Amino acid sequence: MNALNQTDERATPIAGEKLAGKVALVTGGSRGIGAAICRSLASQGASVAAGYSGNRERAEQFLKEFDDFFDGSGRATVHQGNVSRPEDCSRVIEEVLDQHGRLDILVNNAGITIDKMAMKMSVEDWDTVLAVNLSGSFYMAKPALQHMLERGTGRIIFVSSVIGETGNVGQANYAASKAGMLGLTKTLAREAAFVLERGGKRDDDGVGITVNTVSPGFVATEMVDNVPEKVINKIRSQIPVGRLCRPEEVARVVHFLAADASAYITGQVWGVNGGLDM
Ligand code: CAA
Repeated sequence: MNALNQTDERATPIAGEKLAGKVALVTGGSRGIGAAICRSLASQGASVAAGYSGNRERAEQFLKEFDDFFDGSGRATVHQGNVSRPEDCSRVIEEVLDQHGRLDILVNNAGITIDKMAMKMSVEDWDTVLAVNLSGSFYMAKPALQHMLERGTGRIIFVSSVIGETGNVGQANYAASKAGMLGLTKTLAREAAFVLERGGKRDDDGVGITVNTVSPGFVATEMVDNVPEKVINKIRSQIPVGRLCRPEEVARVVHFLAADASAYITGQVWGVNGGLDM
């Protein structure tokens, strides 16, 4: 079965007001898990800025679908940038601040795969995946955190992968990049708390700044659709829940972590993988 056939369940347009008045930037936000995260954050009242790298047409289609879904009541913008270029990342953050006035939530979701057995993987295959998935997350997080530290509040959420914890045949570059996100998450979580404390901005009853990772398993998106059928069947047979994950099932954890009330959760890795890593 085509993996995309499983993605028809969607967030309801208005599910709550947990994120009313907040602004969220989601990299890789125009499709797949990123688009589901945008809808989910917006369904809780956030304005969303969706980053995309090259496919302008897909980004326009995302905006149209977003408008249709929220009947014109949601607010979304799209921002072109290659996350592996630090200058693009700083510019996108500036664009979001100019157009939305603030940035409360950064979701580092943009990611790519170039799957090959390690002995056949070129230096370029390695560097390209590390540059987008891991360095790109850092390049976005740095200016975002700067802004959040000035304001004393914020949420940074990385979208890693179960592969970063278990490894996978054919994914040395991807697994290393996703594992790297876990160390980055914990370090930024500690530094954010440390700098807030040192700057006298810690408020024990406040929103604070938290940094967390959501670690999905195999999600029914184009990325998984490209995995050979025989391999995906093997993988599916190892998932205790017995099916692929829906993008919305990842997105709901992101909006939970993004809420003000999640202030006590920081430096954590939230698995959404159907039990695959047990
Ligand atoms: N798990 C288990 N077995 C695997 C495997 C995997 N991930 N990948 C390959 N194999 C097995 C194949 O089933 C095959 O076994 P048989 O000989 O018994 O049929 C054997 O390894 C060799 O595989 P190929 O014939 O496909 O060899 P290849 O050299 O042509 O290609 C490959 C190797 C590039 C690794 C290819 O098999 C492949 O693309 N595998 C999928 C890798 C994968 O799982 N990617 C996940 C992408 S989705 C994602 O990354 C999102 C996320 O966060 C989960």
